[in-house]
Amino acid sequence: MRRPPDLVIAVDGPAASGKGTVARALAARFGLPHLDTGTLYRAVALNLLRWGGDPESEFAALRACDGIASLADDPELRAEAVGGVASRISAYPAVREALLERQRDFAGQSGGAVLDGRDIGTVIAPAAHAKLFVTASADARAERRLNELEHRGLTAHLADVLLDIRARDERDSHRATAPLARAEDALLLDTTTLDRDAAVAEAIRLVEQRLAG
Ligand code: CDP
Repeated sequence: MRRPPDLVIAVDGPAASGKGTVARALAARFGLPHLDTGTLYRAVALNLLRWGGDPESEFAALRACDGIASLADDPELRAEAVGGVASRISAYPAVREALLERQRDFAGQSGGAVLDGRDIGTVIAPAAHAKLFVTASADARAERRLNELEHRGLTAHLADVLLDIRARDERDSHRATAPLARAEDALLLDTTTLDRDAAVAEAIRLVEQRLAG
């Protein structure tokens, strides 16, 4: 397999599709640093919530982009309420613009990188050597998200989680700026019937095949 010296891998997909798991495994396999870009949008949302800013205001959301570095490891980033607000504020062009450079810098670092999100293959790193679009049925994703919540000791109902996943899909796919979309040259990985290990094995196979040309 020919491996470019500055290998960049872009992983995109909807909520709870398994893109984070796949991206972390690819980073380990190829010895690359990994950025979960969703945490940047979540950090903006958390900052906004803590400061009491209005998520309906693009200006307030833009102000909340300042000083997010200190929130990088905050356990509250994974809260459902934070994810919901992240999905809203990520539609604002000013917020996307404010977070663009640090994502491009991460993708452009010497030695290469793996990034996962919604617009990595389309906007952040359109020249990535390998692009994966990871997806799964809404039902399968809702079950995974429910398991994740239960593991964290939270209670939720499958029907509510499914509604939330559908609402998130709708917002992410239909916003005007950098909507969730499969890049033309992205390889599709449907994880609906795959467990974690099978999804990771398939992702590695697809990337190696792409690098082999
Ligand atoms: O894992 P989950 O999909 O719940 O969330 P996430 O990947 O942490 O992202 C949270 C929200 O940020 C998503 O609903 C997207 O609306 C937004 N996001 C985005 O717009 N662009 C990215 N590159 C990453 C996340």
